[in-house]
Formats: sequence, structure tokens, C-alpha cells
Amino acid sequence: MTNPGSAALSDRVTDAFSDRDLVVVSNRQPYAHDYDDGEITVSRPAGGLTAGLDPVMQRAEGTWIAWGDGDADFEVADEEGRVRVPPDDPSYTLSRVRLSEEDVEGYYYGYSNRALWPLCHGMIGTARCDGRDFEHYRQVNRRFADAVVDRIDDDDDALIWFQDYHFGLAPRMVRGDVGGAVLTQFWHIPWPTWDTFRVCPSAETIVASLLANDLLVFHTPEYVGNFLDCVEAAVPEATVDRSNGAVAYDDHTTTVVAFPLGVDAGRITDLAERDAWPDLERRHRLEDRTIALGVDRLDYTKGIPERIDALERFFEDHPERRGDLTYVQKGTGSREEIEAYQHLQDRVDRSIERVNDRFGTDDWRPIIRVQEHLPKEELYALYRHSDLALVTPLRDGMNLVAKEFVAAQLDSEGVLLLSEFAGAHEELGDDAVTINPYDTQGVADAIDRALALPEEERRERMTTLRERVNSYDLVAWMDDVLSAALDCEGNRDEIVSEHA
Ligand code: F6P
Repeated sequence: MTNPGSAALSDRVTDAFSDRDLVVVSNRQPYAHDYDDGEITVSRPAGGLTAGLDPVMQRAEGTWIAWGDGDADFEVADEEGRVRVPPDDPSYTLSRVRLSEEDVEGYYYGYSNRALWPLCHGMIGTARCDGRDFEHYRQVNRRFADAVVDRIDDDDDALIWFQDYHFGLAPRMVRGDVGGAVLTQFWHIPWPTWDTFRVCPSAETIVASLLANDLLVFHTPEYVGNFLDCVEAAVPEATVDRSNGAVAYDDHTTTVVAFPLGVDAGRITDLAERDAWPDLERRHRLEDRTIALGVDRLDYTKGIPERIDALERFFEDHPERRGDLTYVQKGTGSREEIEAYQHLQDRVDRSIERVNDRFGTDDWRPIIRVQEHLPKEELYALYRHSDLALVTPLRDGMNLVAKEFVAAQLDSEGVLLLSEFAGAHEELGDDAVTINPYDTQGVADAIDRALALPEEERRERMTTLRERVNSYDLVAWMDDVLSAALDCEGNRDEIVSEHA
């Protein structure tokens, strides 16, 4: 089978980045060096975007600035924290920022993940916006901004691409120092309504800083609309043109757009085609079961305990499905220093135990928890051979698991159950089975409906989903973002010449 997805970036983007600086700024790094039994080893992070950006950076021979969180990171780097990567065939520079424990506590756990993360996901009750954490966030943003400025110097041609909510302040800092560069930011998570964001004591500072970007990208038009509402409320001096997402502020125009992040469909197809299923199926005793799958980072936004409650209700209502339907939970630990994540872990453990104790038998467990690390070919085999995917976040910027499941469904037999509060619902909602994760009975009934769908309808739905996911993949998304950034530069040139 030939791979789906766009083969490569467009000529325009490829040409543009063959002779200009591309600087990516992200919290997580593309390669980490760690000690393992006294030896230094290199690992690559799991994130799809990080993996997808790596080949673009290799071609552009750019610079990637990120937190050096590996314990051997600075052993292999020069005095400035720079190391050439990929380690096997170096072509670009990874410039590592060293953070102290106090920095990590205030900037990463504190302001990024105790304040902005819950707020952007609409969870006001969980948010703690401590001014002391904000001070660390500011200082760390300053360090990253300095690293950008050192790197590009007076290079007006450079394109700086900030990733995510860890860098709410760096764009304004960089703009103050190097006026000419094109600044772009992709906000990976939702942007909430003003009524929620106004809880943040630094709302105005963050919104005004993001307006130092030339291009600001969200996943969906809803987040763009929410952000523009926040601009109008927090920065009344700004002029917002909703017809084209242009915001004029401080002698500068920011274009605010929605491009929904895609997955590397070609790579997922390759991996799902490998024959990793029989071994995995045997190891977890899944032979002849109907499988419902959940794959999540263990985060309270993902709706995992709520999903397990709904499964419990389903088994209560449908005794005929006991002994057959098996829910496989693949969970990865996350941000474990934060209390809300520790509580979640306990809640998930207790919920799984409760359901297994209540319904399990000698030869069947309703919930199987996969704790071991699965190599990618096994993970995508699991996606491929699952009958249902339960993607039930309470709120999610996009949710790439929904798209990965679709991309791995080579036989088009599975059904996607998708929360209406995931960004992915905007694109995939019509052919998924939509659920409201807060409605226990509604999710239980949706599982029943999904299992009862006739084969022909399942195939039709999945075929349409696959067309969407395969055609607007990670490369197509990246091409859109980088082309839009080049357009912003073009618009700026026009404005300058109009005023010359
Ligand atoms: O979805 C937002 C995000 O920050 C991603 O960019 C990242 O891969 C994921 O959450 C994991 O979070 P962390 O880097 O805090 O482990």
C-alpha cells in the first residue's frame, strides 16, 4: 500500500527556508542525553509535532532552543549549551537552556501547569495563579528570549517559531530586541473565553505579549474567536478585524488563524502495517475479545475516571457484553509533582479496581491496564485492531489520539467515540459517535450504539474520517503555518512601502 499524506512541504516553503534562519523555541527538546549505567544515551521524545519538526529543521539547518532536562545534556554540549543534532548525522543546532530546580518548579510546574494549563482548559477551580510562579515564568521566558536574540543577532530574515503556552511572554521580549524577525507562535492547547481567562492576574500582559507575534496559530476557529474576545477586553487599545483575524496594536499587526494540527499519517500507516499484533494480543490475553481502547497522558483534562464510570454503567446495563468487551487503558504518567495529577492517578487506580472487582471473572477482566512501554509498531497495531476508540476529554486543544486511531485503521472497521469538547471534533465529529463526557448514561448508551453499528456504516464513517486525516496531515499543516508566516512578512513589506 502506498503511503497517504502529503509527501513534502511546498516548493515555496522549502525554497524560503533553504536560505534563511528558522529558530524553533519549545519547552521540550527533540533529543535528550541521559546517563544509563554510566553510559550516555540519546532518546527522542514521543510528541508527534516534535518528531515532525525534526526533518524540517534538518533541511533548514536551523536552531532549536529548548529546556535541557536530560541529566547528561550539558556534558555533551558546548559552554553555551549547544549541541549538533541529529546525533548520527548532525545538521542543525540544539541550543539547550539550563533550568534550576527552582526555575522548573515556578515556570514549568507552577505557572505553566498550575495556572495556564487548567485555565486554558476552562478549569478555573483547579487553577492556582501565584504571582511568585509568574515571576519565575517571566525570568525563564527572558532566558529563552535572550537565547533567541543571541542566535539571530541582527538577522532580519529569521523566522522564530514559538511553541505553546510555556512562552506567553517571550514574543514581546524578542520583539523589543530584534524588531525585524518574523515571529510565529502555535498555541497547542485551547484558548478559553474571556470570562475564564480574566481569572489570570496577568491576563493583559500575556495577551499583549502574544500580539508581538506576526502570526498566532490556534487549532480551531473557536479558540481564535475566544482569543480575539480576550484582546478586546484586555487590550482595548488594539483594533480587531474579525473578517481576517488581524489585530493592530502597538504599530504592529498580528494575524490570528486556525490550522488544526494533523498527524504523520504515512508513518502511522507504515507502522500499523507491521505484524506486531499477534504477540501483543497474546501477551494481554485479548484473543477473541471486542476491544475498546483509551490512550492518554494521565491528565485530569482527559476524562479518564469519567470514562471508567461510563464503562461501569455500560456493564451494568448490558450483562450480555460481560466476558467479551474489554477496555484497554494505555496511560502514560505526567506532571507527577503536581497534586491534581497525583489525585487523578489515585482516582484512576481506584476506578479500575472497582470495575474489575465488580464484573471480572476468572478468565475475563473488563479493564486491562497496559503499563509497559509499547514500541510504536505495537501501539499502532493496538489502534488498528481495536473495535472502538474512547476519546472522551473534558476539554482538549485537539487530541491527536483521535487522529492516530483513524490513521491506523487500515481495515476501516473501528468506530471513533469522540468528545464534543475535543478540538478534533470540529473536523471529525460528523463521522464519529459524539459523546458528552460529563454524561455517564449518555456515554454508556453511545458505547452500545457504536457496537451495534452495521458493518457497512462503520466502514463508510471510517473511510470518510481516513480521507480527512490522511489528506490534512502533519506536513500539510506545517506547510500552512510556514506559508502563512511568509504571507505575514509579505504583508508587512507592503505596509512599509505604503508608508515610505
Ligand atoms: O498538549 C500540550 C503539551 O504541552 C504538548 O506540547 C506536550 O507534548 C504535552 O502537552 C505533554 O506535556 P509535558 O511536556 O508537560 O509533559
